[in-house]
Amino acid sequence: MQTLTLTRPDDWHLHLRDGAALKAVLPHTARQFARAVVMPNLKPPVRSVADAAAYRERILAALPAGSQFEPLMTLYLTENTRPEEIVAAKASSFVKAVKYYPAGATTNSDLGVADLRRCDPIFETMERLDLPLLLHGEVTDGCVDIFDREKVFIEKYLIPLISKFPRLRVVLEHVTTADAVQFVLSAPATVAATITPQHLLFNRNALFQGGLRPHFYCLPVLKREEHRAALLQAATSGNPKFFLGTDSAPHPRGSKESACGCAGCYSALHALELYAEAFESADALDKLEGFASFHGPDFYRLPRNTEQITLNKTTWRIPEELPFPESGLAPLRAGEEITWQMA
Ligand code: DOR
Ligand code: ZN
Repeated sequence: MQTLTLTRPDDWHLHLRDGAALKAVLPHTARQFARAVVMPNLKPPVRSVADAAAYRERILAALPAGSQFEPLMTLYLTENTRPEEIVAAKASSFVKAVKYYPAGATTNSDLGVADLRRCDPIFETMERLDLPLLLHGEVTDGCVDIFDREKVFIEKYLIPLISKFPRLRVVLEHVTTADAVQFVLSAPATVAATITPQHLLFNRNALFQGGLRPHFYCLPVLKREEHRAALLQAATSGNPKFFLGTDSAPHPRGSKESACGCAGCYSALHALELYAEAFESADALDKLEGFASFHGPDFYRLPRNTEQITLNKTTWRIPEELPFPESGLAPLRAGEEITWQMA
């Protein structure tokens, strides 16, 4: 296949940051995607509808002239979030979901939730109003091996959560394991999952290929090959429970190439090309449009996009570095060739 025409996709999990960083990365996403679910883990986090409205205005102001890109906003759940905020979120036209971060799990998650069960009154309200809950599905208990944190989260928190709130719509974000795939497949239609390009293309060996590779470090961390294979199978199966969420998460190079490097892979520049490579490797390019353009809006009950985009089978080299505050930004697979290119 030499060209691939798709309905314009959306990114259902994205980190845009703020200020100069936002300005640097937003054009990449706006070029590829019509909409994106914007994560609220700013410093301080986006905790109220007023915060989300202000952040949305800053995003719209940072867009390239003429862009029609639509940011879909989220609230950052804390143990102090009040049900009234959920009511206001649902009444707003722009807050589409609430994001749960386990306290201490990842970038800017210190104000997250220490025990999910303390948020039951919030989940009751979200279930009643039908506002989706987005989960960073990992436990943070230091006794749990980092490669097991997703599996333990599912057993300890997620299974009880969905049995308690059977009508709550839940997205298990950036799934990384065969266990998560199995769980999502066996769960009711209210439960879906996003999958990143890095988890489809790489296993944990990528972190140690010839030396320590900080640009492949994200959370949840890459897993064994058997897990990558299960994710690729799920993404390319055509099952509407699985959809595109890049988790593109920019950090300055210096914050990643460090004695204590930040988690996050930057893929917004070339996300569709990365997904196309993954789908092509499974001989499933015909399933890319459903995953990238249909399953997400169907789950969120938003209209599908109508515009189209084209990818050409052309080899190009991913830049070594992109402009970004402080020390530049290394895109995923910087300096390497990629075989698809968005027209
Ligand atoms: O790798 C990650 N980076 N995982 C997350 O959950 C957060 C993200 C970020 O904000 O940098
Ligand atoms: Zn994320």
